[in-house]
Amino acid sequence: MDELTDLATLEEEAFAALRGAESEDALNDWFSRYLGRKGTVTLAVRRVGSLPKEARPAYGQAVNQLHQRLEAALTERQKDVKRAALKAEMVETTFDPTLPGRRPEVGHVHLSNQTLREIYAIFQQMGFQVYDGPEVESDAYNFELLNIPAGHPARDMWDTFYTTTPGYLLRTHTSPGQIWAMREYAPEPIRVILPGKCFRYEQVTARSEMMFYQVEGLVVGKNITMADLKGTIVAFVRQMFGQERKLRFRFSHFPFTEPSVEVDMDCVLCGGKGCRVCKHTGWLEIMGAGMVHPVVLRNGGYDPERFSGFAFGMGPERIAMLKHGIDDIRYFFSNDVRFLSQF
Ligand code: DAH
Repeated sequence: MDELTDLATLEEEAFAALRGAESEDALNDWFSRYLGRKGTVTLAVRRVGSLPKEARPAYGQAVNQLHQRLEAALTERQKDVKRAALKAEMVETTFDPTLPGRRPEVGHVHLSNQTLREIYAIFQQMGFQVYDGPEVESDAYNFELLNIPAGHPARDMWDTFYTTTPGYLLRTHTSPGQIWAMREYAPEPIRVILPGKCFRYEQVTARSEMMFYQVEGLVVGKNITMADLKGTIVAFVRQMFGQERKLRFRFSHFPFTEPSVEVDMDCVLCGGKGCRVCKHTGWLEIMGAGMVHPVVLRNGGYDPERFSGFAFGMGPERIAMLKHGIDDIRYFFSNDVRFLSQF
């Protein structure tokens, strides 16, 4: 029974070596030495074939069991070594598992959209619906039907980007939505706001962008007067900027309204005394408005003898600039998180 004695010696030696292996590298060496292709235990397993027939069963069983015990012991030892290494690392480094995790950056609604939502909420209370119009418009809707024929000097105010399809352009204002809404609802009364992007081909400055939002308003019905226009706008401005706001309606001209006005409110910063923001006038211009021109009413499908209406148009970026004291419209779409995250 020599070979069984050999096995007992081998077992003792292998277990002692395993206990002494204290790193992953040492465990790998140990594996090659005992269980690898030329390892001593592997060779001992192969030895079965060279033994006399009657010695084989006892030896075979013993050597296989030893092989299994060593494999199981290796797995255990590997876990211990890993755990010890991790423990050492935690002690040596300054890693503090009790610190709170890092919060992922969460985005939020863009300032233009926040302002749009405030505007929607105020007009919703007054019974206005939101109506969408297309951003790519025909010359007819953007100009002609709004009483701005080709060659009209007012077109100079609204140079835009033209598409490769003749007669189609990026809308310069949300006013063409008035025609869409009227043609859909005529001869029913209308109370809508039309928000959306507008485009202008012009020099980008602190006060003007190539792309910006507008919110148009349109009310059409019987006996709609300038008093309705004023009441609606005063109610809106005071909810947006504070109940103490004073408003001023100045004569102006837009081809699609008659009469036309420009609406100013007393400066939110200086309260009307005059400062840098209001350019020392005490007033801030916030929107254009007027009574819908009879030609526009007719183009929308309403008989101007029986129907009247008012309209207005404002820029939510400008409203947000006044509300938050922002001095450059280019911040809105230059995508700088340092700006955007402030709102
Ligand atoms: N569409 C005009 C613009 O972009 C703004 C405007 C003025 C709209 C008067 C109106 C209005 O509806 O009545 O400059």
